[in-house]
Amino acid sequence: MTEPTAAPSPLVVTERDGAVAVVRLRRADKKNAMTSEMYADVTRAWRAAEADADVAVHLWLGVPGAFSAGNDIEEFLEATRTGRLSLAVIEFLHTLASLDKPLVIGVDGLAVGVGTTALLHADLVVASDRSVFRTPFVDLGLVPEAASSLLAPRRMGHAAAFELLCLGAPFDAGRAQAVGLVNRVVAADALEAEARGLARALAAKPRAALAASRRLLREAIGVDRAAVIARIDAEAEEFAARLASPEAAAAFSAFMSRKK
Ligand code: COA
Repeated sequence: MTEPTAAPSPLVVTERDGAVAVVRLRRADKKNAMTSEMYADVTRAWRAAEADADVAVHLWLGVPGAFSAGNDIEEFLEATRTGRLSLAVIEFLHTLASLDKPLVIGVDGLAVGVGTTALLHADLVVASDRSVFRTPFVDLGLVPEAASSLLAPRRMGHAAAFELLCLGAPFDAGRAQAVGLVNRVVAADALEAEARGLARALAAKPRAALAASRRLLREAIGVDRAAVIARIDAEAEEFAARLASPEAAAAFSAFMSRKK
């Protein structure tokens, strides 16, 4: 059975399910848009789980209907003034790219921006059939992040990666599975059980054999940790320059004022 552990903040909840360390985003009223505080909480939870010998696998979940609507746009708007990306985001991305234990993600509903690009770092992804994926970086005056400009072309080829990351149109779970972002598509009410089942199945495997297999498979597609981190940093530099641009400021202001 699941054992609740200390919650880092009300918006990010952690839990232990046997040898599975579960992190859940819980900012339902904002569709799980990620603030700096939330990135820092997730980073802390992952680092603690990496250091815990009783943990074999990470599982990352959202709330019903929203895995994550991406970075909080209000914080992006603030960043247009400072011209800097939050350090918490960079630390989060570095940690995501450096996890030694397998990561399983369960997506139900919205997966926007980093909610989609983070999937490129997971080992297994389950999505509900009502999920909608979108990476509107260019429409926001920004560039792809989370090493997606490196990992997406490798995963799905240039044509699909360009369409995903530059055209930025929404796509469904079937398309996400077809381009290799998602392993399995299930009904929304079966999503969490399926994701937990996969995480527990991995957690039950011989750990050293699983770790070595994961490393070999990543090497085979050229997922070298240092190269991924270097790409995260190169994207962040470009991203920060774009954040300071008038086109980004206009896009964020339009989003924040659209309901007024
Ligand atoms: N940052 C900040 N607030 C966000 C957000 C984000 N990324 N995504 C959603 N929200 C907020 C909305 O402003 C709204 O807040 P309000 O109730 O105080 O007005 C609330 O979450 C619910 O969102 P809403 O737009 O009403 O839900 P929806 O189902 O109609 O649409 C989205 C959901 C995700 C399609 C839409 O909110 C959206 O496009 N969000 C921006 C996504 C984005 O561009 N992220 C950055 C990627 S780099």
